[in-house]
Amino acid sequence: MDKVVLAYSGGLDTSVAIKWIAETYKMDVICVTVDVGNERDFTSIQEKALRVGAIKAYVEDARDTFVRYFCLPALQAGAIYEERYPLATALARPLIAKILVDYAHREGALAVAHGCTGKGNDQVRFDVSVQALDPDLRIIAPVREWAWSRDEEIEYARQHDIPVPVTAESPYSVDQNLWGRSVEAGVLEDPWVEPPEDAFAWTINPRYAPDEPSEVEIDFERGIPVALDGEQLSPLELIVRLNELGGAHGVGRIDHIENRLVGIKSREVYEAPAAVILHTAHQELEKLTLTKEQMEFKATVAREMANLIYNGRWFSAHHQDLAAYIASTQRHVTGTVRVKLFKGTCRAVGRRSPKSLYQIALATYGKEDQFDQSAAVGFIQLWGLPLRTQARVQLKGGTGDEMLRLAAPDITSAEPHE
Ligand code: ARG
Repeated sequence: MDKVVLAYSGGLDTSVAIKWIAETYKMDVICVTVDVGNERDFTSIQEKALRVGAIKAYVEDARDTFVRYFCLPALQAGAIYEERYPLATALARPLIAKILVDYAHREGALAVAHGCTGKGNDQVRFDVSVQALDPDLRIIAPVREWAWSRDEEIEYARQHDIPVPVTAESPYSVDQNLWGRSVEAGVLEDPWVEPPEDAFAWTINPRYAPDEPSEVEIDFERGIPVALDGEQLSPLELIVRLNELGGAHGVGRIDHIENRLVGIKSREVYEAPAAVILHTAHQELEKLTLTKEQMEFKATVAREMANLIYNGRWFSAHHQDLAAYIASTQRHVTGTVRVKLFKGTCRAVGRRSPKSLYQIALATYGKEDQFDQSAAVGFIQLWGLPLRTQARVQLKGGTGDEMLRLAAPDITSAEPHE
């Protein structure tokens, strides 16, 4: 029989998918569960896969790869989608796709499969990544194909002896990994409703967070976090610790109306304490070590990178080009940032770097000042030159009042237009 490698989470959808693929496509199903820090009982997931009918069930610990090749480069890039979302789910998808393709090759499978619906971003990320890595592999997406209601799916599960969770399942759709936790659906679909406490699992409500702030010093070497409070840690351990510390202060809750690739606006709730703390600290260090023009151009690249990751184009030449630029910008992003965590907030309160472009002798108003103020006169002479020319040639009729009005036309009298 032909074989297919299924990305298996252990949940109802992918469990039903094992049987459904076997029946519909007459294929042997090999399950692969990828550990990207989603902390679950992988042994029972494996057992369940085999019980439901998979011919093999593998668990792949991809946590170090996820951190090394996905989270840290996204941190260096400053990749945050629509100013809010640190991209946890989006970053894990291309890695899971890569692992599926590797298993497909090893097992001689003709196809890979995943449990994504037909209206989200994840299907796009899986499909496009698989296509980029092996255009000849077939892709099966049972949930997208069977188009059942929840009740129909449960009915199928009952008929086929697939365990259906008896306890009232979480009212939310959750995806999580080291870089963050995503929560969708249920009451969150009403954008007016504040996320209830049961939507959160990693972070305490800031109201109940400690009344004393915590400070933590984060050392970076070339844009990579390497130590907390002077203690050298592996990036994986460092992220785990910051998730705990940030979570205990209610840091990293994100409530966001997001533009999906498939054209839908959706209400997304995230918890990402480590990602929020590390992005805050990393950006702060860049302020000290990059020039204004580097910062401005890098912000443009960061947005491009975030869109590319969100939109499933991880495995592309365009990404490789951007990554080369980002890596180059990080040469001097070495130093330490002190952040303060307090009641849901994370602020940088101190920063230092051996490569700092901040020079006290230039910035100070004290007597150590070495900035030559007389040089400002010539500078302003030239900076203002085009405006003086324009004032003489083009604006000479304008009174001061007219200049006020022209710079802010009609803001109060304007008719509202639909
Ligand atoms: N909106 C986020 C994204 O597109 C989160 C998706 C969560 N995925 C899930 N299967 N629950 O990256």
